[in-house]
Amino acid sequence: MVVSDMGIDLGTASVLVYIKGKGVVLKEPSVVAFDRNTNKIKAIGEEARLMLGRTPGNIVAVRPLRQGVISDYHVTEKMLRYFIQKAMGKHQRFRKPRISVCIPSGATEVEKKAVRDATLLAGARDVEIIEEPIAAAIGAGIDIARPCGNMIVDIGGGTTDIAVISLGGTVVSNSIKVAGDDFDEAIVRYMRKKHNLLIGERTAEDIKIKIGCAYKREEVETIDVRGRNLVTGLPKTITVTSDETEEALHEATSQIVEAVHAVLEKTPPELSADISDRGIVLTGGGALLRGLEELIESRTGITTMTAEEPMTVVAIGTGKFVEFLSGKRTVQ
Ligand SMILES: Nc1ncnc2c1ncn2[C@@H]1O[C@H](COP(=O)(O)OP(=O)(O)O)[C@@H](O)[C@H]1O
Ligand SMILES: [Mg+2]
Repeated sequence: MVVSDMGIDLGTASVLVYIKGKGVVLKEPSVVAFDRNTNKIKAIGEEARLMLGRTPGNIVAVRPLRQGVISDYHVTEKMLRYFIQKAMGKHQRFRKPRISVCIPSGATEVEKKAVRDATLLAGARDVEIIEEPIAAAIGAGIDIARPCGNMIVDIGGGTTDIAVISLGGTVVSNSIKVAGDDFDEAIVRYMRKKHNLLIGERTAEDIKIKIGCAYKREEVETIDVRGRNLVTGLPKTITVTSDETEEALHEATSQIVEAVHAVLEKTPPELSADISDRGIVLTGGGALLRGLEELIESRTGITTMTAEEPMTVVAIGTGKFVEFLSGKRTVQ
Protein backbone atom coordinates (compact mmCIF):
# COMPACT_ATOMS: atom_id res chain seq x y z
CA MET A 1 0.00 0.00 0.00
CA VAL A 2 1.23 3.44 -0.91
CA VAL A 3 0.57 6.23 1.56
CA SER A 4 1.16 9.53 -0.14
CA ASP A 5 1.58 11.84 2.76
CA MET A 6 2.02 15.26 1.36
CA GLY A 7 3.42 18.68 2.17
CA ILE A 8 2.25 21.75 0.27
CA ASP A 9 4.01 25.09 0.11
CA LEU A 10 1.25 27.52 -0.81
CA GLY A 11 3.46 30.44 -1.80
CA THR A 12 2.58 33.82 -3.26
CA ALA A 13 4.57 33.08 -6.43
CA SER A 14 4.54 29.30 -6.62
CA VAL A 15 2.93 26.21 -5.20
CA LEU A 16 5.10 23.17 -4.52
CA VAL A 17 3.94 19.71 -3.53
CA TYR A 18 6.22 17.31 -1.70
CA ILE A 19 5.35 13.66 -1.32
CA LYS A 20 6.94 11.53 1.35
CA GLY A 21 9.58 9.31 -0.16
CA LYS A 22 9.32 10.98 -3.60
CA GLY A 23 10.44 14.55 -3.00
CA VAL A 24 9.00 17.61 -4.75
CA VAL A 25 6.59 16.24 -7.40
CA LEU A 26 4.90 19.46 -8.50
CA LYS A 27 6.02 23.05 -8.83
CA GLU A 28 3.73 25.52 -10.56
CA PRO A 29 3.06 29.24 -10.41
CA SER A 30 0.18 30.29 -8.12
CA VAL A 31 -1.82 31.76 -10.98
CA VAL A 32 -5.44 31.21 -11.99
CA ALA A 33 -7.00 32.40 -15.24
CA PHE A 34 -10.73 32.76 -15.58
CA ASP A 35 -13.38 34.02 -17.92
CA ARG A 36 -14.71 37.35 -16.77
CA ASN A 37 -18.09 36.80 -18.40
CA THR A 38 -18.92 33.37 -17.08
CA ASN A 39 -16.63 33.40 -13.98
CA LYS A 40 -15.44 29.93 -15.03
CA ILE A 41 -11.82 28.95 -14.43
CA LYS A 42 -9.93 28.60 -17.70
CA ALA A 43 -6.52 27.46 -16.52
CA ILE A 44 -4.47 26.99 -13.37
CA GLY A 45 -0.72 27.01 -12.77
CA GLU A 46 1.84 27.14 -15.56
CA GLU A 47 -0.83 27.25 -18.26
CA ALA A 48 -2.45 30.25 -16.56
CA ARG A 49 0.88 32.02 -16.05
CA LEU A 50 1.45 32.06 -19.78
CA MET A 51 -1.78 34.03 -20.05
CA LEU A 52 -0.66 36.75 -17.56
CA GLY A 53 -0.49 40.09 -19.34
CA ARG A 54 -1.48 38.49 -22.63
CA THR A 55 -5.14 37.74 -22.08
CA PRO A 56 -7.90 38.97 -24.36
CA GLY A 57 -10.47 41.22 -22.66
CA ASN A 58 -12.72 38.47 -21.33
CA ILE A 59 -10.01 36.34 -19.72
CA VAL A 60 -8.21 37.51 -16.59
CA ALA A 61 -5.24 35.84 -14.97
CA VAL A 62 -4.80 36.49 -11.24
CA ARG A 63 -2.39 35.50 -8.49
CA PRO A 64 -4.79 34.82 -5.63
CA LEU A 65 -2.07 34.92 -2.94
CA ARG A 66 -0.21 37.86 -4.33
CA GLN A 67 0.43 39.91 -1.21
CA GLY A 68 0.91 36.96 1.07
CA VAL A 69 -2.70 36.92 2.14
CA ILE A 70 -5.51 35.06 0.52
CA SER A 71 -7.17 37.81 -1.42
CA ASP A 72 -9.58 35.53 -3.18
CA TYR A 73 -10.65 32.58 -1.10
CA HIS A 74 -12.76 30.74 -3.70
CA VAL A 75 -10.05 30.94 -6.31
CA THR A 76 -7.43 29.78 -3.78
CA GLU A 77 -9.60 26.84 -2.85
CA LYS A 78 -10.02 25.77 -6.50
CA MET A 79 -6.32 26.18 -7.14
CA LEU A 80 -5.36 24.14 -4.10
CA ARG A 81 -7.76 21.37 -5.00
CA TYR A 82 -6.43 21.26 -8.56
CA PHE A 83 -2.81 20.95 -7.40
CA ILE A 84 -3.58 18.31 -4.76
CA GLN A 85 -5.50 16.22 -7.26
CA LYS A 86 -2.81 16.64 -9.89
CA ALA A 87 -0.10 15.55 -7.43
CA MET A 88 -2.18 12.62 -6.18
CA GLY A 89 -3.10 11.55 -9.68
CA LYS A 90 0.53 11.09 -10.57
CA HIS A 91 1.10 8.86 -7.58
CA GLN A 92 -1.58 6.24 -7.17
CA ARG A 93 -2.88 5.99 -3.70
CA PHE A 94 -5.14 3.69 -1.73
CA ARG A 95 -5.64 5.83 1.32
CA LYS A 96 -6.45 9.47 1.80
CA PRO A 97 -3.24 11.34 2.50
CA ARG A 98 -2.37 13.29 5.57
CA ILE A 99 -1.48 16.75 4.28
CA SER A 100 0.38 19.64 5.83
CA VAL A 101 0.10 23.04 4.24
CA CYS A 102 2.44 25.94 4.74
CA ILE A 103 0.79 29.28 4.16
CA PRO A 104 2.32 32.75 4.03
CA SER A 105 2.60 34.22 7.49
CA GLY A 106 0.25 37.05 8.25
CA ALA A 107 -2.68 34.86 7.27
CA THR A 108 -5.68 35.33 9.54
CA GLU A 109 -7.50 32.58 11.45
CA VAL A 110 -10.31 32.79 8.89
CA GLU A 111 -7.84 32.25 6.05
CA LYS A 112 -6.19 29.35 7.86
CA LYS A 113 -9.57 27.73 8.33
CA ALA A 114 -10.35 28.32 4.66
CA VAL A 115 -7.17 26.54 3.60
CA ARG A 116 -7.85 23.69 6.02
CA ASP A 117 -11.41 23.24 4.68
CA ALA A 118 -10.25 23.40 1.07
CA THR A 119 -7.59 20.77 1.75
CA LEU A 120 -10.10 18.46 3.43
CA LEU A 121 -12.51 18.94 0.52
CA ALA A 122 -9.70 18.10 -1.87
CA GLY A 123 -9.36 14.67 -0.27
CA ALA A 124 -7.10 14.96 2.76
CA ARG A 125 -7.64 12.68 5.73
CA ASP A 126 -6.00 15.07 8.11
CA VAL A 127 -4.69 18.63 7.70
CA GLU A 128 -1.95 20.45 9.50
CA ILE A 129 -1.28 24.16 8.90
CA ILE A 130 2.36 25.09 9.40
CA GLU A 131 4.09 28.40 9.94
CA GLU A 132 6.38 29.22 7.05
CA PRO A 133 9.58 29.96 9.04
CA ILE A 134 9.33 26.62 10.85
CA ALA A 135 8.96 24.79 7.54
CA ALA A 136 11.82 26.79 6.03
CA ALA A 137 14.07 25.93 8.97
CA ILE A 138 13.26 22.20 8.82
CA GLY A 139 13.83 22.24 5.05
CA ALA A 140 17.17 24.00 5.48
CA GLY A 141 18.29 21.11 7.69
CA ILE A 142 18.18 22.99 10.99
CA ASP A 143 17.39 20.89 14.04
CA ILE A 144 14.57 23.10 15.30
CA ALA A 145 13.92 21.10 18.45
CA ARG A 146 17.19 22.17 20.09
CA PRO A 147 17.26 25.04 22.58
CA CYS A 148 19.35 27.13 20.26
CA GLY A 149 18.49 30.32 18.36
CA ASN A 150 18.37 30.30 14.56
CA MET A 151 17.37 33.13 12.29
CA ILE A 152 15.54 32.39 9.06
CA VAL A 153 14.79 35.04 6.45
CA ASP A 154 12.42 33.75 3.75
CA ILE A 155 12.18 36.08 0.77
CA GLY A 156 9.30 34.96 -1.42
CA GLY A 157 7.34 36.74 -4.15
CA GLY A 158 4.98 38.83 -2.01
CA THR A 159 6.39 38.70 1.50
CA THR A 160 9.63 38.46 3.41
CA ASP A 161 9.28 36.52 6.64
CA ILE A 162 11.91 36.86 9.30
CA ALA A 163 11.91 34.64 12.36
CA VAL A 164 14.06 33.57 15.25
CA ILE A 165 13.34 29.96 16.08
CA SER A 166 14.25 27.95 19.16
CA LEU A 167 12.83 24.76 20.70
CA GLY A 168 10.50 24.17 17.77
CA GLY A 169 8.76 27.52 18.06
CA THR A 170 9.03 31.09 16.80
CA VAL A 171 10.42 33.42 19.46
CA VAL A 172 10.45 36.71 17.52
CA SER A 173 9.18 37.32 14.01
CA ASN A 174 8.25 39.93 11.48
CA SER A 175 6.69 39.81 8.05
CA ILE A 176 6.90 42.63 5.54
CA LYS A 177 5.24 42.96 2.18
CA VAL A 178 8.50 43.63 0.38
CA ALA A 179 9.95 40.71 -1.59
CA GLY A 180 10.73 39.42 -5.08
CA ASP A 181 7.73 41.05 -6.80
CA ASP A 182 8.75 44.42 -5.38
CA PHE A 183 12.20 43.99 -6.87
CA ASP A 184 10.53 43.59 -10.27
CA GLU A 185 8.34 46.65 -9.74
CA ALA A 186 11.35 48.68 -8.63
CA ILE A 187 13.14 47.78 -11.87
CA VAL A 188 10.08 48.80 -13.92
CA ARG A 189 10.01 52.19 -12.14
CA TYR A 190 13.74 52.70 -12.52
CA MET A 191 13.64 52.02 -16.27
CA ARG A 192 10.79 54.47 -16.70
CA LYS A 193 12.46 57.22 -14.68
CA LYS A 194 16.05 56.81 -15.82
CA HIS A 195 15.61 55.68 -19.41
CA ASN A 196 12.08 56.71 -20.36
CA LEU A 197 11.54 53.07 -21.18
CA LEU A 198 8.36 51.19 -20.43
CA ILE A 199 8.90 47.49 -19.69
CA GLY A 200 6.60 44.77 -18.37
CA GLU A 201 7.01 42.92 -15.09
CA ARG A 202 8.14 39.74 -16.82
CA THR A 203 10.98 41.64 -18.52
CA ALA A 204 11.88 43.21 -15.18
CA GLU A 205 11.99 39.78 -13.53
CA ASP A 206 14.21 38.57 -16.33
CA ILE A 207 16.65 41.45 -15.76
CA LYS A 208 16.64 40.70 -12.02
CA ILE A 209 17.34 37.00 -12.51
CA LYS A 210 20.04 37.52 -15.16
CA ILE A 211 22.05 40.46 -13.79
CA GLY A 212 20.24 41.82 -10.72
CA CYS A 213 22.29 42.49 -7.62
CA ALA A 214 21.76 43.87 -4.13
CA TYR A 215 25.40 44.72 -3.51
CA LYS A 216 27.86 46.24 -5.99
CA ARG A 217 30.20 43.64 -7.45
CA GLU A 218 33.62 43.94 -8.98
CA GLU A 219 32.66 42.65 -12.38
CA VAL A 220 29.83 44.59 -13.97
CA GLU A 221 27.38 42.63 -16.11
CA THR A 222 25.09 44.02 -18.78
CA ILE A 223 21.92 43.01 -20.57
CA ASP A 224 20.01 44.40 -23.56
CA VAL A 225 16.47 45.35 -22.67
CA ARG A 226 13.64 45.97 -25.11
CA GLY A 227 10.71 48.13 -24.20
CA ARG A 228 8.64 51.06 -25.41
CA ASN A 229 10.14 54.51 -25.57
CA LEU A 230 7.80 56.70 -23.55
CA VAL A 231 8.65 59.77 -25.61
CA THR A 232 8.30 58.42 -29.15
CA GLY A 233 5.98 55.52 -28.35
CA LEU A 234 8.21 53.25 -30.43
CA PRO A 235 10.10 50.08 -29.47
CA LYS A 236 13.60 50.75 -28.17
CA THR A 237 16.52 48.67 -26.92
CA ILE A 238 18.95 49.85 -24.28
CA THR A 239 21.81 48.26 -22.34
CA VAL A 240 21.38 48.00 -18.57
CA THR A 241 24.21 47.29 -16.13
CA SER A 242 24.18 45.28 -12.90
CA ASP A 243 25.22 48.43 -11.02
CA GLU A 244 22.02 50.09 -12.19
CA THR A 245 19.97 47.21 -10.79
CA GLU A 246 21.70 47.71 -7.43
CA GLU A 247 20.55 51.33 -7.55
CA ALA A 248 17.03 50.35 -8.60
CA LEU A 249 16.74 47.72 -5.87
CA HIS A 250 18.37 49.76 -3.14
CA GLU A 251 15.19 50.91 -1.43
CA ALA A 252 13.51 47.49 -1.40
CA THR A 253 16.60 45.61 -0.24
CA SER A 254 17.20 48.23 2.48
CA GLN A 255 13.69 47.66 3.79
CA ILE A 256 14.48 43.95 4.12
CA VAL A 257 17.73 44.69 5.94
CA GLU A 258 15.91 47.07 8.29
CA ALA A 259 13.31 44.42 9.07
CA VAL A 260 16.08 41.92 9.86
CA HIS A 261 17.66 44.51 12.09
CA ALA A 262 14.39 45.14 13.93
CA VAL A 263 13.98 41.42 14.66
CA LEU A 264 17.57 41.21 15.93
CA GLU A 265 16.86 44.10 18.27
CA LYS A 266 13.95 42.23 19.81
CA THR A 267 15.82 38.93 20.16
CA PRO A 268 16.69 37.82 23.70
CA PRO A 269 20.48 38.06 24.28
CA GLU A 270 21.23 34.32 24.57
CA LEU A 271 19.51 33.64 21.29
CA SER A 272 21.24 36.53 19.59
CA ALA A 273 24.57 35.11 20.69
CA ASP A 274 23.56 31.81 19.04
CA ILE A 275 22.62 33.65 15.84
CA SER A 276 25.93 35.47 15.65
CA ASP A 277 27.69 32.10 16.06
CA ARG A 278 25.53 30.19 13.60
CA GLY A 279 24.71 32.92 11.10
CA ILE A 280 21.53 34.00 9.33
CA VAL A 281 19.96 31.60 6.81
CA LEU A 282 18.17 32.91 3.72
CA THR A 283 15.47 30.90 1.92
CA GLY A 284 12.86 31.56 -0.79
CA GLY A 285 13.34 32.48 -4.45
CA GLY A 286 14.14 36.08 -3.58
CA ALA A 287 17.25 34.85 -1.75
CA LEU A 288 18.71 34.01 -5.15
CA LEU A 289 19.26 37.71 -5.85
CA ARG A 290 23.02 38.17 -6.03
CA GLY A 291 24.67 40.10 -3.24
CA LEU A 292 21.86 39.83 -0.69
CA GLU A 293 24.05 37.80 1.65
CA GLU A 294 26.82 40.40 1.43
CA LEU A 295 24.35 43.25 1.97
CA ILE A 296 22.82 41.70 5.10
CA GLU A 297 26.24 40.71 6.37
CA SER A 298 27.67 44.20 5.88
CA ARG A 299 24.79 45.85 7.72
CA THR A 300 24.40 43.39 10.62
CA GLY A 301 27.94 42.06 11.01
CA ILE A 302 26.50 38.51 11.06
CA THR A 303 27.54 35.81 8.61
CA THR A 304 24.68 35.21 6.17
CA MET A 305 24.19 32.26 3.88
CA THR A 306 21.55 31.02 1.48
CA ALA A 307 20.07 27.56 1.95
CA GLU A 308 20.80 25.01 -0.75
CA GLU A 309 17.92 25.11 -3.27
CA PRO A 310 16.19 28.01 -1.49
CA MET A 311 13.03 27.71 -3.60
CA THR A 312 12.20 24.18 -2.50
CA VAL A 313 13.21 24.20 1.17
CA VAL A 314 9.79 25.28 2.44
CA ALA A 315 8.03 22.47 0.55
CA ILE A 316 10.58 19.95 1.77
CA GLY A 317 10.28 21.27 5.33
CA THR A 318 6.50 21.11 5.16
CA GLY A 319 6.68 17.51 3.97
CA LYS A 320 9.26 16.61 6.59
CA PHE A 321 6.95 18.08 9.20
CA VAL A 322 4.40 15.45 8.18
CA GLU A 323 7.02 12.75 8.56
CA PHE A 324 7.87 14.20 11.94
CA LEU A 325 4.17 14.03 12.88
CA SER A 326 3.78 10.48 11.58
CA GLY A 327 6.82 9.49 13.60
CA LYS A 328 5.37 11.06 16.67
CA ARG A 329 1.99 9.44 16.18
CA THR A 330 3.34 5.92 15.81
CA VAL A 331 5.28 6.30 19.01
CA GLN A 332 2.19 7.41 20.90
N1 LIG B 1 17.56 33.49 -9.82
C1 LIG B 1 16.76 34.36 -9.19
N2 LIG B 1 17.24 35.57 -8.81
C2 LIG B 1 16.45 36.45 -8.17
N3 LIG B 1 15.15 36.23 -7.87
C3 LIG B 1 14.62 35.05 -8.23
C4 LIG B 1 15.38 34.06 -8.90
N4 LIG B 1 14.59 32.98 -9.15
C5 LIG B 1 13.38 33.30 -8.64
N5 LIG B 1 13.38 34.53 -8.09
C6 LIG B 1 12.25 35.25 -7.47
O1 LIG B 1 11.76 34.53 -6.36
C7 LIG B 1 10.42 34.94 -6.11
C8 LIG B 1 9.56 33.72 -5.82
O2 LIG B 1 10.06 33.04 -4.74
P1 LIG B 1 9.24 31.87 -4.02
O3 LIG B 1 10.05 31.42 -2.86
O4 LIG B 1 8.83 30.85 -5.01
O5 LIG B 1 7.97 32.72 -3.53
P2 LIG B 1 6.69 32.30 -2.71
O6 LIG B 1 7.15 31.44 -1.58
O7 LIG B 1 6.11 33.60 -2.26
O8 LIG B 1 5.80 31.54 -3.66
C9 LIG B 1 9.94 35.68 -7.37
O9 LIG B 1 9.87 37.06 -7.09
C10 LIG B 1 11.05 35.37 -8.36
O10 LIG B 1 11.22 36.43 -9.30
MG1 LIG C 1 7.52 30.78 0.15
